[in-house]
Amino acid sequence: MVDDRLAQLKSNGDVPRHVAIIMDGNGRWARSRFLPRTMGHHKGMKSVREVVEGAIEAGVEMLTLFAFSRENWSRPSSEVAALMDLLADYVAKETSRLRKNGVRTRVLGDRSSLSGAALEAVETVEQATKDESRLQLGLCISYSGREELTRAARMIAADVEAGRLDIENIDEQAVSSRLYTAALPDPDLLIRTSGEQRISNFLLWQIAYTELYVTSVLWPDFTREDLFEAILDYQRRERRFGRVSA
Ligand code: IPE
Ligand code: IPE
Ligand code: MG
Repeated sequence: MVDDRLAQLKSNGDVPRHVAIIMDGNGRWARSRFLPRTMGHHKGMKSVREVVEGAIEAGVEMLTLFAFSRENWSRPSSEVAALMDLLADYVAKETSRLRKNGVRTRVLGDRSSLSGAALEAVETVEQATKDESRLQLGLCISYSGREELTRAARMIAADVEAGRLDIENIDEQAVSSRLYTAALPDPDLLIRTSGEQRISNFLLWQIAYTELYVTSVLWPDFTREDLFEAILDYQRRERRFGRVSA
């Protein structure tokens, strides 16, 4: 079944180059099993491995995952601590596998708010995978779309003040190139798990024309087969970008 879907999406062609995912529903997955929420986060890590490898199989070039939002800092401190531990755990367990699979990994978000151990984990995985190029994996941690845009505005103002940039030359490229995603094209497909139909401050600028796909599957249950299903759905759509059909 999973192989059929993979073969189908490959033969369809037009695989999305850049897929972004809001990985949601870990807490509900755990609650439905009378487990602590952190168990859901733990199981969710397996789904990360699953989609990274599924993306490679499908031929996706860039995968951007929302792992921890700036707003998630407001959760109980025990849950925040568990999530930060999980980040270090992920890096410790997965770095060699990421490298073997050719996955260049980068962290997007406000690093200044990370603890020493979390920051060290981030730098370790980035450094260890910097020469890989089969898949570009972006892990959004302490990320907020509004913070990203505010930061870009601050950078632009500083460049104008220093005489490096003329006000007339402030265009969309000037903004895009100052985002955490500067090196990446916009996502083609955005997947949100757990059925919530909202963006939750993710990639606000970048998703202007991204195709949205919401699935009720909770993140810890999400498999590569679900990823392939989302890509097949994407391939049935017509992206018009405001124009009329050919
Ligand atoms: C997503 O799962 C993981 C993070 C936001 C860190 P949640 O923890 O939001 O799970 P639900 O939405 O409460 O089920
Ligand atoms: C969005 O999920 C953030 C991540 C998946 C990391 P949330 O669970 O934090 O979002 P809301 O609160 O449902 O909007
Ligand atoms: Mg949630």
